[in-house]
Amino acid sequence: MGKGYYIRKHEAMAAIILAAVALVTIVALSVVYNREKSRNSAKWTNASPPAVNPTRKASNDPWDKYRLPDTLSPISYNITLWPRLQINSDGMYIFTGSSKVLFTCEKETDLILIHCNKLNLTLFNGHHANLTERSKPGAPRIRNSWLQVETQYLVIQLEGSLTPGKSYWLHTEFTGELADDLEGFYRSEYMEDGQKKIIAITQMQATYARKAFPCFDEPGMKATFQITLIHDRGTTALSNNLEASTEDIVIEGVPVTRTEFLPTKKMSSYLVAFVVSDFTYIKRKDNNRVLVRIWARKKAIEDGQGDYALNVTQPILEFFENYYNTSYPLLKSDQIALPDFNSGAMENWGLVTYRETALLYNPQMSANGNKQRIVTVVSHELAHMWFGNLVTLKWWNDLWLNEGFASYVEYLGAHHAQPTWNIKDQIILYDLQRAFAVDSLTSSHPLSRKEEEVNTPSEISEMFNTISYSKGAAVLKMLSEFLTEAVFAKGLRNYLQQFSFGSSVHSDLWDHLQKAVDETPGVKLPYNVHEIMNRWILQMGFPVVTIDTRTGNVSQRHFLLEKEAVVERTSEFNYEWFVPIKWMKSGQPQDQLWLVQKSGYFRVNYDQENWERLISQLEFGSQVIPVVNRAQILDDAFNLARASILNITLALRTTKYLIHEREYIPWEAALRNLNYFIKLFDRSEVYGALQAYLKRQVKPLFDYYGSMSKNWTMVPDGHTDQFTQIIALSLACGTGVEGCREITKGWFKKWMQDPQFNPIHPNLRSTVYCDAISAGGADEWNFGWQMFQKATVAAEAVKLRAALACTKVPWLLNRYLEYSINPEKIRKQDATSTIGYIANNVIGQPLAWNFVQANWEYFFKVYGTGSFTFSSLISDITNRFNTPFELGQLKRFQKDNAETGFGSGTQALQQAIEKTTAKIKWLAENKEAVLRWFLAESENPPKLTGIPHALT
Ligand SMILES: *[C@@H]1O[C@H](CO)[C@@H](O)[C@H](O)[C@H]1NC(C)=O
Ligand SMILES: *[C@@H]1O[C@H](CO)[C@@H](O)[C@H](O)[C@H]1NC(C)=O
Ligand SMILES: *[C@@H]1O[C@H](CO)[C@@H](O)[C@H](O)[C@H]1NC(C)=O
Ligand SMILES: *[C@@H]1O[C@H](CO)[C@@H](O)[C@H](O)[C@H]1NC(C)=O
Ligand SMILES: *[C@@H]1O[C@H](CO)[C@@H](O)[C@H](O)[C@H]1NC(C)=O
Ligand SMILES: [Zn+2]
Repeated sequence: MGKGYYIRKHEAMAAIILAAVALVTIVALSVVYNREKSRNSAKWTNASPPAVNPTRKASNDPWDKYRLPDTLSPISYNITLWPRLQINSDGMYIFTGSSKVLFTCEKETDLILIHCNKLNLTLFNGHHANLTERSKPGAPRIRNSWLQVETQYLVIQLEGSLTPGKSYWLHTEFTGELADDLEGFYRSEYMEDGQKKIIAITQMQATYARKAFPCFDEPGMKATFQITLIHDRGTTALSNNLEASTEDIVIEGVPVTRTEFLPTKKMSSYLVAFVVSDFTYIKRKDNNRVLVRIWARKKAIEDGQGDYALNVTQPILEFFENYYNTSYPLLKSDQIALPDFNSGAMENWGLVTYRETALLYNPQMSANGNKQRIVTVVSHELAHMWFGNLVTLKWWNDLWLNEGFASYVEYLGAHHAQPTWNIKDQIILYDLQRAFAVDSLTSSHPLSRKEEEVNTPSEISEMFNTISYSKGAAVLKMLSEFLTEAVFAKGLRNYLQQFSFGSSVHSDLWDHLQKAVDETPGVKLPYNVHEIMNRWILQMGFPVVTIDTRTGNVSQRHFLLEKEAVVERTSEFNYEWFVPIKWMKSGQPQDQLWLVQKSGYFRVNYDQENWERLISQLEFGSQVIPVVNRAQILDDAFNLARASILNITLALRTTKYLIHEREYIPWEAALRNLNYFIKLFDRSEVYGALQAYLKRQVKPLFDYYGSMSKNWTMVPDGHTDQFTQIIALSLACGTGVEGCREITKGWFKKWMQDPQFNPIHPNLRSTVYCDAISAGGADEWNFGWQMFQKATVAAEAVKLRAALACTKVPWLLNRYLEYSINPEKIRKQDATSTIGYIANNVIGQPLAWNFVQANWEYFFKVYGTGSFTFSSLISDITNRFNTPFELGQLKRFQKDNAETGFGSGTQALQQAIEKTTAKIKWLAENKEAVLRWFLAESENPPKLTGIPHALT
């Protein structure tokens, strides 16, 4: 395998073990850098935080405000819904329903506000609802009622006042459209055995329950829900709880089934779910009292695609019962895979909904990456069953705690189910580094927003972003580590106990964690949990900590991608943080190597000499540096260079050791940073030299995996080795390593000759498909398109859909763009990501940009203001922008569409402008040096047999 020599070398070097010296120290580091607000302000006037929606009318009427008054609170709902899965005479799919909500009057009022959107309400005596007092007649009469469209209310004015302490029933009957809009109660279509099938499903989070039935649609307004579904005979109805009774009846001459569900526990409206389908399931109940079922299309279940999810659900539930020290709060756990679903998955209490790719696994079709996604998504959603569902954050401004928490503990649950997969370390790739990328912009925002800053549905929808999920996860992991996992879990358990079936705010969790600290002997913090955490959650961004090993001096400053950017958003903490930091030292005092042992939410910089020592340690003995730290060194170096804090040539030198690297996490981190470079330079003269360098660096990895896999005929045993094998193949083929393209083209050709038999291992399909379609023409593309249309496993369909964007033929790309917004060809849920794939391709990028500009109003109409995918669409199509001309185009796009607006993409557009501005500046200063470095490297290849100086 040609690596024996290096192994010996690494073993020899391993003698210089880095000794852990410093304990966890939390230091209030002095600020060496004070940012002036006024500097360069003219240039940065666009970078202000998103303004309050200017179109909102100033009015003091309660129905013009987006938040419910505190006069009423719901106790229980009794809802009956009847979705029609056949088109009606008006050419529409509809559902009808009736709802009775019992609520208590908390404060005297003569006004009832209840959320209601896009429902046609039946009139009772000329009014939209019928109000009665709970036990006896005596409710005030309705004076006036109407639908307030902008704020999505049913408004009811009464002739007299409701009495505090008394409870009332509000009865409504309604008709709604069962549209294919992925929001509220909606329909999804799929083909089975050549037949079109229709199912009715829900997505309530964040503000769509009001589109299925009138409700007090705020997370803090918990109530019980008694749900009854009327559905076609032969279909199955599911909801949050188990069914209480099922009965065949005839209504209006139509034979139907009526399924009544047991009332739910007290819960938020955004967690309500129901599904009508002809899906089947597999189940497991063991000696455990919880019934676990996996539901999907009949074909998928018969094919065994639910087995993996069923296998991991039980261990994950048990893990969380232990971790939270609280039994699973419900009788059953249903998980269902849906053909049309906007987000990845939704944690409805007891009935979790998934995209098919996030739940269904087929060993013949799914890559091990698909498998890992399933176990982590299942773990994430099940974590919510307690954190989020049993205890709910009162308002969406604290969404970060709900999502950040689940995004952190998903690694713990997944690790429990797959202990040999080394999943926990991957948080640095999938959350930490991802969060750094957006949080280093001045257009970022604090994790926690003020309650009054988040009101409208699109403001709420905007909270579902990388900051909430990934920064939330990284910050909570750091907190858990410096408190110790035991203390963190103790505080968490007490918090859950106190707020079960209720709601809380983030400081409630800090209270309980602080209490756990106080009660644990031996754990002492120099500041309390509130003081430490407030700096991480109430101000945006994060610090770069600089260690000067010559003096031992440690300092911090706010890390920004653009060094001269001016931060308009002020912080009461002046952009200083309490940083829990731990480092290791090795070697003689005069030549000592320092390494911060970090997984915290901050970047690390050193003095030049220490960087030199790190680079040399990487080149001559990288094994002694833990895997995660190798990835961090690379990622920090590149990002410090992008921020002009570190010389770019130094960052580039951290990649030289990659010829020895065989581990997944450092390669993945390197690849991302190199990809950033590729995108920065693939339209410029630097590209040739960059390609040549990468080709050289990946060659040993390619050879290593070629021989390990018996010339690519086998798959490595190790889970992360399988990931690295994919990197080896894709980077080698992408940079033209001899022998690589022949392999991928050969496989693809074989498949084209015999479409029934796909000879490509599922792990390698994404890469091979993309490579072959990129190298090929219309024949390869059309074959891929045919296979895409025939694919019955979602994981396979995604791989093909992404690969089709790899062609270099412009007319194929343009046709594919047209397909992307044709729901007959590409599912609506996949439209924006398909355009994103096309934009990722250097030839597709300008085509996608023009396409989106031309169709902006269409996107906005179809996807509405609330869609989660808007922001990724904008960031995908503008990803490569790095010239003043492109910046001008971006600004014009912003101006031209100011009237239509950008909905949940508003922030993303701001970020795109900021990133482009930063890149223009950076390129002006560094492009020459980068070109020179790559040229020099390709002219002076390293002597691979060189003896490291430390060993002579
Ligand atoms: C809920 O409504 C249904 C239909 O109106 C009715 O039969 C049932 O008794 C109600 N349940 C409760 C608890 O009020
Ligand atoms: C309102 O509800 C009460 C109690 O169920 C019922 O007696 C009354 O007829 C209803 N009013 C209308 C207009 O349907
Ligand atoms: C609701 O009423 C409007 C106006 O009459 C009508 O256009 C729409 O089709 C109705 N929706 C449903 C679902 O019946
Ligand atoms: C599920 O578990 C069973 C029993 O351990 C095992 O035989 C089967 O291979 C597993 N299925 C998957 C897809 O992991
Ligand atoms: C970066 O380092 C290179 C090589 O040591 C040097 O030529 C260049 O001037 C440095 N660039 C800056 C901006 O200091
Ligand atoms: Zn979540």
